[in-house]
Amino acid sequence: MARVPPDLIERVRDAADIVDLVSKYVDLKKRGQNYFGLCPFHDEKTPSFSVAPAKEIYHCFGCGAGGSAFDFIMEYEKIGFIEAIQWLGEQYGIDVRISQEERGNELFPNLYELHKEAMNLYHENLFSKNGEQALSYLNKRGFKKNILKQFKIGLARDSWNILLTHVKKMKYSNEVLEKSGLFIKSEKGTFDRFRNRIMFPIFNTYGKVIAFGGRALDSEDPAKYLNSPETVLYRKRDNFYGLHASRQHIREKENVIIVEGYMDFLQLYQAGIQNVIALSGTALTENHAMKIRKFTKQVFLAYDGDSAGIDASIRAGYILLKLGIDPKIICVPNKMDPDDWVKRSGPDEFNNALGNATSTLKFHIRTKMAHSLPAIEKSDFVGEVLSQIGSINDGIIRSELLKFLAQDLGIDEEDLLKKLKTQKSKSFQNPVLDIPEKVGINQMKSKIQRAQIELIKILAGDNLDVRQEVREKIQLDYFHEPILKELAKLIIPLYDEIDYPNVINKFDLKDERKMVTEILMSDLDLSNVSSLISDCILTLKVHPIKEGIKDVRIRIRELEEKGEDPSEAIIEVAQLQQELKLLSI
Ligand code: CTP
Ligand code: MN
Repeated sequence: MARVPPDLIERVRDAADIVDLVSKYVDLKKRGQNYFGLCPFHDEKTPSFSVAPAKEIYHCFGCGAGGSAFDFIMEYEKIGFIEAIQWLGEQYGIDVRISQEERGNELFPNLYELHKEAMNLYHENLFSKNGEQALSYLNKRGFKKNILKQFKIGLARDSWNILLTHVKKMKYSNEVLEKSGLFIKSEKGTFDRFRNRIMFPIFNTYGKVIAFGGRALDSEDPAKYLNSPETVLYRKRDNFYGLHASRQHIREKENVIIVEGYMDFLQLYQAGIQNVIALSGTALTENHAMKIRKFTKQVFLAYDGDSAGIDASIRAGYILLKLGIDPKIICVPNKMDPDDWVKRSGPDEFNNALGNATSTLKFHIRTKMAHSLPAIEKSDFVGEVLSQIGSINDGIIRSELLKFLAQDLGIDEEDLLKKLKTQKSKSFQNPVLDIPEKVGINQMKSKIQRAQIELIKILAGDNLDVRQEVREKIQLDYFHEPILKELAKLIIPLYDEIDYPNVINKFDLKDERKMVTEILMSDLDLSNVSSLISDCILTLKVHPIKEGIKDVRIRIRELEEKGEDPSEAIIEVAQLQQELKLLSI
């Protein structure tokens, strides 16, 4: 395994603020000194996941997950320590090449580089002689050179191995080639995944290319679009196409327009409507909603004007509502998509439509013509809407929606409320319990284990006087439990500020790191700390003596059985009992 220089670990850690990092994945709310949110490592409805910025660690009280920024990324991205450092380095703009001489087996820098190589090759192709046909197709669809250049649109030529041959010269490892998703391995060999397609590089929020979408040039091709698979760089459930370019416009305008396809995005962006992002081939997820909520809570959905688009926008609308966003749905004229519409009618008409956009519920009622449904179907419709409303956490949004539904369909609000309650209790009868078995300090229940834990908590707390008091009174051999002894050994010599992530990283096993984090995370009640300290110390001093008495008693019985003289051992017990008595005074 490559050795990571300590100063590199240090620099990455300094750059990767734990709150900033975690909040890319978890919606955090500040409470007191710490931040809380829904744990990304197990399924939960109320937040038990917390981040302590002062200590630079996180911990979930529900499932026991916990550790430093490195642990978070390792756990979330399912990668190793070195890769976590590289991942964080890439995100925070730190050069993370570990071995300078040759191309090492460092996964992340190589994967990013390979994607960039592929993007450049595809892009050059499009503007070369070989790309004439593809370029004229794009021009016909209204795309000018500027936009194609800005988004590095390219062409994968009609060949099985142009990319493969190109990158083979660069000596990427097989692992990198395989994990990139850019190639297909079969019995017959390895081939380029994308052939005869217009290529859309997909960027992460920081503008690094992490995947591709490819549109078939051949209208006979059975798959109009082919995308990169999920890789360690690319996760569909929280990536938006174009966000790296539109984020500043979204912040300025304080609202965002979500469209379905690459072409919709590019057409709007080119027409000057630049606060836009595209989903590109996936349904909107809660992860998407959480991501967008960090930019703005004003969301417009401009999906295709066909029935699939209408249904998808209603589903997306309810997902956004669930997370506290009340989106507006834009009515795209029948059979058109935003791309066709803006190309045909210009940006003004689209901008006007923003003003006339409707709330999700109203759009849902109108498009399903719920007013004029026969009673049974209307009741089904109401049931469907109520089950959506029931899953919304925000009580204000919930009651607004109920009120609207009641008024709009002429139903008594009380009746709706009753129906909602019975539906809710039904769905609560079978709660999904997905809590992994917790590894944690709650497994250490005995009095002696608790005493050791309490002392370490005090030693790791931020009250320097109390820490000093404990330090003077204890000895390392009070700690019997191996993991606690190790932790005590690390912490006792630390006089000033404790570098918490550093302490955690001294433990090799994930479960150990979780347990250590849990101990380091807890805040102490200092009101009765002196008597707590003496209680703990007493317990720990008494324990070995009691154990000693037990041992000698066994010896006495053995001696008696053998008919030997136990009197020496009996004196030993008496002495130990005396010691115990002195301690308890
Ligand atoms: N998509 C996909 N796989 C498919 C079809 C669609 O991943 N088989 C994704 C693509 O990201 C596409 C988006 O869904 O951009 C919307 O699909 P569609 O409306 O069919 O394509 P358009 O973007 O309108 O493309 P075009 O105008 O070239 O037909
Ligand atoms: Mn289209």
